[in-house]
Amino acid sequence: MTHDAMSTHERPVPGMPSRIEDLRGDIVGIETHVPLLDGSERPYVYLDNAASTPAFGFVLRAVTEFLPWYSGVHRGTGFKSLLATEVFDAAHEAVGSFVGADRETATVIFTKNTTECINKLSNRMTLAPTDVVVTTLIEHHSNDLPWRKHARVIHVGITSDGYPDLALLKATIARERGKVKLVAVSGASNITGICLPVHEIARWAHEAGALLFVDAAQLAPHRKIDMLPPHDPAHIDFLALSAHKLYAPFGTGALIGPRTFFAQGDPDAVGGGVVDVVTLDRAVWNQPPHKEEAGSPNVIGGVALAASLRVLRTVGMDQVAAHEQELLAYGYGKLKKVRNIRLYGPTERLENKVGVMTFNIEGMHHSLVAAILGTEGGIGVRDGCFCAHPYVKELLHVGAEEDRKFTAEVISGDKSHMPGMVRASLGCYNTQEDIDAMVEMLDRVSRGEYKGRYIQNRSTGAFQAEGYTIDFQKHYFLAEPVEGLRMHSEAS
Ligand SMILES: Cc1ncc(COP(=O)(O)O)c(C=O)c1O
Repeated sequence: MTHDAMSTHERPVPGMPSRIEDLRGDIVGIETHVPLLDGSERPYVYLDNAASTPAFGFVLRAVTEFLPWYSGVHRGTGFKSLLATEVFDAAHEAVGSFVGADRETATVIFTKNTTECINKLSNRMTLAPTDVVVTTLIEHHSNDLPWRKHARVIHVGITSDGYPDLALLKATIARERGKVKLVAVSGASNITGICLPVHEIARWAHEAGALLFVDAAQLAPHRKIDMLPPHDPAHIDFLALSAHKLYAPFGTGALIGPRTFFAQGDPDAVGGGVVDVVTLDRAVWNQPPHKEEAGSPNVIGGVALAASLRVLRTVGMDQVAAHEQELLAYGYGKLKKVRNIRLYGPTERLENKVGVMTFNIEGMHHSLVAAILGTEGGIGVRDGCFCAHPYVKELLHVGAEEDRKFTAEVISGDKSHMPGMVRASLGCYNTQEDIDAMVEMLDRVSRGEYKGRYIQNRSTGAFQAEGYTIDFQKHYFLAEPVEGLRMHSEAS
């Protein structure tokens, strides 16, 4: 039996947003003003949701109202501990329900993020170096490097439209029958937003005797997921997601998979919480998920995630998807008219794509474009290779020789020529006005009508406007006063 779409014991909570049009008003910090180069301020336009989303106000409220009840879970006997344990365990259930995990056979393991989920799974799969993991070229490094540590990884390439070559993927899985233990694919790409036909891929994997892992870091915030029951050949065996991409940035991720799989073997990490009994020469492991959640868990993170999923389920993931599709079509309609813009990945037939738009302005460094958007437009985007270097370089047609050159430069401490793109990514609360703000700035940028003089930091590749000094402490009390901007290295 799979989880119900909405558990019968879930009571409506007064004040919880329940319609797609309520979500923007419920975003923490939606009105926050940020300083611009010319000394003025404007409300921040956040278009970097694929990296991390802001929190729902409802999540904040759920956390704030839980804090007076906060207590260590599982082994406490007092009332608060009992309540906290109940809430924390129910949070696991809520995640399973959200992704359609089989209630009888699946376990939901809380981690800190998708990366930790995949590392855990790769450590737990007992792969031999000759075993094969089939994946694609579009993967985030988090769904690539952990597999490389344990097995022979085959990266199936892409076709000219940026999609993994599905015919080749199917053929590769079939060809590796007997050796392929796992097929590991993204549900949706963090570079082009394209969604993979995960249930079809599940059939191919199962036919070849392999299991399927879906990295749902980008899929879960945008689409309804149904892992399907284990007897269905199209079911997803393992799935991972991150709460900070789901409007609950409190440090939780979730790995969902068969309980029997995690019940066998040793836990990935050992210590408190993972055992039933310990003698000086023996440890008897607890049942999953406890067996895989070593140490004191992040209870608040679990509460936050459960609260955000409650909102998303109530609003309906189909509503979320429809809203984002509309915005995506609007966004591409506008972006295509920007002078000298180059767009990557599909820009038509958008139903198979979540809200990610990557682009470059011909003749301009991606980091310069992103810096101008931030510094002069108050618009938060991201640039670079987004932790998916092979995919980005392929989309940019970076040849092997050029790639070697960039790699050597980076090793020597110079990131100034690293290829990359600018990425604008949508959340369920974004509006056409957010896109208009970005496109208006891009129009100016593409005509050279920006005001600042930007200097590049060779060691990070990032650009900073001369004279743009910020007193972060003025904006947030724990921030340190910084002369100018620190230039950070790349992430997600
Ligand atoms: C497709 C994909 N997979 C995995 C990750 C890693 O997620 P996290 O940083 O939460 O571990 C990301 C992060 O951007 C991602 O986009």
